[in-house]
Amino acid sequence: MDFSLSEKEQKLWERAKAFTHEHITPRAHELEKRNEFPKEVVQKAFEAGLMNLHIPTEAGGPGLSLLSETFVSEATGYGCAGIATSIMCNNLAFAPLVIGATIEQLKTYVEPLITGKEPKFGAFCLTERGAGSDAGAVATRAERDGDEYVVNGVKCYITNAPQASLYTVFASTQPELKTKGLSCFMVPKSKATKIGHIENKMGQKNSVQSEVIFEDARIPKDCLVGKEGDGFKIAMTTLDKTRAGIAAIATGVAQRAVDEAAKFANIRHQFDQPIGRFQGISFMLADMGARAAAARQLTRYAAWMADQGMRNSKDSAYAKFFAADAAMQNAMDAVQIMGGYGYITEYPAEKLMRDAKLLQIYEGTNQIQRVVAGSAILKESANLDTGFHVKYDGRDAPVM
Ligand code: CAA
Repeated sequence: MDFSLSEKEQKLWERAKAFTHEHITPRAHELEKRNEFPKEVVQKAFEAGLMNLHIPTEAGGPGLSLLSETFVSEATGYGCAGIATSIMCNNLAFAPLVIGATIEQLKTYVEPLITGKEPKFGAFCLTERGAGSDAGAVATRAERDGDEYVVNGVKCYITNAPQASLYTVFASTQPELKTKGLSCFMVPKSKATKIGHIENKMGQKNSVQSEVIFEDARIPKDCLVGKEGDGFKIAMTTLDKTRAGIAAIATGVAQRAVDEAAKFANIRHQFDQPIGRFQGISFMLADMGARAAAARQLTRYAAWMADQGMRNSKDSAYAKFFAADAAMQNAMDAVQIMGGYGYITEYPAEKLMRDAKLLQIYEGTNQIQRVVAGSAILKESANLDTGFHVKYDGRDAPVM
């Protein structure tokens, strides 16, 4: 088993880390006070070739792997989870199209957004007020009218929505069929697409989420991605991939918490020695370091599986919930180790803690990840022979 990166991967990883060091980490605190989309930094990330990595070469993209995307998300997440989210959100917006659209559709709708001088954005529109964890409960409707579809509904918490030129929208074409009646559409920004309430959040203030309102938005029938009824599976397959991206941002946050806390523990003297010499602190640092390292391996493995064409629902759920929990725990531990300095806004730790919280919530709460992983484990168990044959409640454990 080879854990080393290829030369190309190593270069991308180094480039993303250098970009973060120069453009993200030194500015993240000042920028978050503005509580707006970090346009300038995202423009630089686009120019540095750190966006839209998964778009196939036939549609103007670099056609890189999901594993490569995780290097950029971890590196940028180390500097600021909000800025990383703003940079990586095209991955989420366009992944359903890479999964379900034809190359012709990608060339028409996505290529012009990724090949200009300025970055253009897509936004992934699944969530609604009544359809969060229960993603199949989408009420937005798309009705066929001749050669067009007419889209009506309200999406919420949509990342990069105010910046987006193209919305990837999950809407019901046959509501009575529930998840099997959902379809996926590309809806270009128009007068019939409006931005509603913009959220004011506790953390990740360098990323923007808002409502998007579709009022009789007419789109050509070739804006349907895949077939009618494919929408839910396209959404789930997308999230299997992109949750590895969130896990990568979380790994970056978890690692940053280790590094800031360790730096402090080496500098801060109490009782005539650096506080890192006390086992109470060094044991905390050891646990934090192990969490960040484990999060990284789970993340890269989940991404690698997707790159091999393997179903990774369970493994991307593991990566997402483990890495997000690691980020939150490490951020809280960093605040604790840094004491008063940890709680004060001009030092790095309290922002890590506020930013980390969202990682446990968006792209499927960590409870939903455990639903996904738990149900996969139970399914696998039906085919599992542990070698120890015993009856429970008078029944044989099912053995294939
Ligand atoms: N791949 C392929 N097919 C899948 C699948 C997957 N990963 N997951 C489910 N399916 C299929 C099932 O096999 C089933 O198909 P059949 O009926 O043919 O057997 C069908 O889809 C329905 O599956 P379920 O019965 O499991 O569906 P459910 O309604 O119980 O929901 C769920 C499952 C996992 C809870 C899902 O609703 C879910 O993931 N919810 C969370 C939603 C979410 O993550 N939202 C995040 C929004 S994006 C965001 O936050 C981003 C941001 O802004 C940064």
